[in-house]
Amino acid sequence: MSDDASKVTRRIAVLVSGSGSNLQALMDAIESHELSNVEIALVVSNKANAVGLQRALTHKIPALYLPWSWTRQEVEAKLAAVFALFQIDLIVLAGWMRIFTPDFIASYPNRMLNLHPALLPDDGQGNTFTTSNGSVVPVLRGLHVVKRALEAGVKVTGSTVHYVTPEVDAGPMICRAEVLIEDNDTEETLHERIKQVEHKLIVEAIKIVGEGRKI
Ligand code: GRF
Repeated sequence: MSDDASKVTRRIAVLVSGSGSNLQALMDAIESHELSNVEIALVVSNKANAVGLQRALTHKIPALYLPWSWTRQEVEAKLAAVFALFQIDLIVLAGWMRIFTPDFIASYPNRMLNLHPALLPDDGQGNTFTTSNGSVVPVLRGLHVVKRALEAGVKVTGSTVHYVTPEVDAGPMICRAEVLIEDNDTEETLHERIKQVEHKLIVEAIKIVGEGRKI
């Protein structure tokens, strides 16, 4: 068996709710062979007009709009069936704006990753984070964290890729990057700079969790 044949191709599902620029970064990294032995096998959105769906279709990747119009358990049952059908190994939440039940999360141990636009601790726990320059900043979980970083008056924020656990934005860190806040930053300018960093970070996360390694 050749080396390549012995490697396992990881089949990833990327879940989006909006622009999907991080999905784009992953698709580009696969097409340029920066990421190997990885395939985006499915893209799912809970929003019909998510640009991410169109990005997937442009790259000939199956894309599914799954309206959130049933109970959470019903939507999760449909998602689980689709993941099984597409033989998904790894689930990447990249701008996905819905919360899953603990039972659903527990069915994918160490197989569900989330990208969060703020700094989270190594073990996901605690309410403060010490940045590389020694400043202590609050840990921001949940929604609107870019705006909340500005409101908190901190000088450093960033982004974290972490494993999803039932507690929101509190799972073990996979990789993280800091972003300096500039005096004249608005939520939009800061989020744009965070996204530039995230486009590399999400690729790094997939390398860390194991290109071609069976999970
Ligand atoms: C990213 O900033 C991510 O951290 C957050 O939502 C944003 C998604 O951006 N969870 P995009 O849809 O990938 O452009």
